[in-house]
Amino acid sequence: MCGIIGYTTKRTDSVSVALAGLKNLEYRGYDSSGIAFYDGKKLDMVKAKGKISNLEEKLSQMDIASSCAIAHTRWATHGEPSETNAHPHQVGKVTLVHNGIIENYASLKEELIAKGYEFKSQTDTEVATAYIDYCYSLCNNKLQALVDACKGIRGSYAFNVIYEDEPTTIYATRKDSPLVIGYSHEGNFAASDISAILSYTNKYSLIDENEFVKITSSIVTFYNEDLTETSNEIKTATWDAAQYQKNGYDHFMLKEIYEQPKVIQDIFNRYYSDCDYSDIHFENFDNIHIVACGSAMHASLVGKYLLQTYAKIPAMVEIASEYRYAEELITPKTLLIVVSQSGETADTLAALRLAKEKGAYVVGIVNAVGSTISREVNKCIYTYAGPEIAVATTKGYTSQVAVFSTLVLNAMKQKGLLDETQEAEIKDELLNIKPKLEQVISQRDTYLDIAKDIYSHKDLFFIGRGIDSTVCMEGSLKLKEISYMHSESYSAGELKHGTISLIEEGTPVISIATNENLFEKTVSNIKETKARGSYTIFVTTDAHDAVDFREFADKTVIVPKTSEFSQAIPVVMALQLIAYETAKLRGCDIDKPRNLAKSVTVE
Ligand code: M6R
Repeated sequence: MCGIIGYTTKRTDSVSVALAGLKNLEYRGYDSSGIAFYDGKKLDMVKAKGKISNLEEKLSQMDIASSCAIAHTRWATHGEPSETNAHPHQVGKVTLVHNGIIENYASLKEELIAKGYEFKSQTDTEVATAYIDYCYSLCNNKLQALVDACKGIRGSYAFNVIYEDEPTTIYATRKDSPLVIGYSHEGNFAASDISAILSYTNKYSLIDENEFVKITSSIVTFYNEDLTETSNEIKTATWDAAQYQKNGYDHFMLKEIYEQPKVIQDIFNRYYSDCDYSDIHFENFDNIHIVACGSAMHASLVGKYLLQTYAKIPAMVEIASEYRYAEELITPKTLLIVVSQSGETADTLAALRLAKEKGAYVVGIVNAVGSTISREVNKCIYTYAGPEIAVATTKGYTSQVAVFSTLVLNAMKQKGLLDETQEAEIKDELLNIKPKLEQVISQRDTYLDIAKDIYSHKDLFFIGRGIDSTVCMEGSLKLKEISYMHSESYSAGELKHGTISLIEEGTPVISIATNENLFEKTVSNIKETKARGSYTIFVTTDAHDAVDFREFADKTVIVPKTSEFSQAIPVVMALQLIAYETAKLRGCDIDKPRNLAKSVTVE
């Protein structure tokens, strides 16, 4: 949560460059923002509540020439969204922007108050600022002050610091929060992610945990905790700035939904024909744990279903923030699969670290190349879905499902469970999936029509069986997070054990039935809701087009039939588009839903 950027340049446009970069980080938090800049005489600061456009508006009324700036976009943790709580914070000689959480801020604050410091905000960051200032007052060495402060701070942080007496240099460090260094001829950057700087450079370095960086407009120097210089590889980013633009789409979410046919096809081409899973031997492990959050956890449920049903390998899926309570189950014979689009989710990172401590082997299914999770797992399988900007994930989820499919097919091969004919059929399907997914997208009118039926309702239910019940969970989350409609997802057979009491005349129920063997049972459950007045939207495949759905369905969505190795993908794409159209009709901020942030880097 929160995005930070620092830029120091030989020119005088640091504010406009930092602001442009900050806009690309807005997905990380958007309840307030701020910037500190050196105008040649002093460090000045501007802050605004709400979206970055409010900050931009304030800055547009000023005539600024500045060679160094640090900026921040916030997702509030300590203290309400307000200008006072917005970053940067300034105490004594130190100005700071921070992404993360200082866990021991309360005790540090008491210590600092006893030493005479005063605080204006409710934030943990102002305490960190004062603490760095205090350390600086003791040693009078800027890098050493940062090292000393970090030793006394518990928690997660990416820091960009400017000292008043050296206002064109940025000092930076990180622990458990991401930060990259960017290099250009005009100046150098430190930003939460590469998207903030790609318009200016594709040359970057990753900073290791507890590494310290001194950044001037012409030189970047890395240090370890002993202040010995270290060297960091300069990498070239493969993603380009155009991928961070809407490119004509109304929303990033829509663009990312439309990208799915290609993204999924690329994954199947890459990992099915030429998969490199030779080092994952399922039979070497006593137990398989799959751990993730939110939609990535829903993708994990699809993975678990496929693993159990087809590779006959039992697996446990756990929400990352709950995994530590299953600590007793982790052994050196555990295979942990962590799944994360951003590769920075704090709960997932904590789970992987715990498992590694206990000797488990950890595989990551990750999108963001070079992210913390991708660097800390024993083996990383990238989804290569490209940047995902909309806060609600779409291609992030489907690409995780696609990778799981290839992983399970590989496990089946390892166990001799895939005969030649079956393999040829599945291969043919997966290597030709794109037109089927394009067909799902082409039915936009159907989704809009359904959205018109449901958008004014208060409550909604999703039901399905087997793999469809996991897809329901994702469909329900998508609708909730972007349209703010209350929605619940239930295994179709479970509804009658209590929740059916909530169904009343007109309650929309989105029901999914894609599996022939479960079809009749699901239809019976749909009829149970219909008998109680539900308005039924039925999602099924073209394999069932001989059935007369009118008996139990008010509206029907037909997606192409595939094997279960890819069936979740077209179904969820239809649900994503229903959620999208519904949120649009409800006038919601689709790409930046209230209270959320894309990258959840706090536990
Ligand atoms: O980046 P990650 O995949 O680790 O993120 C996990 C969840 O925070 C994420 O899927 C979240 O649930 C999204 N808002 C869903 O759209």
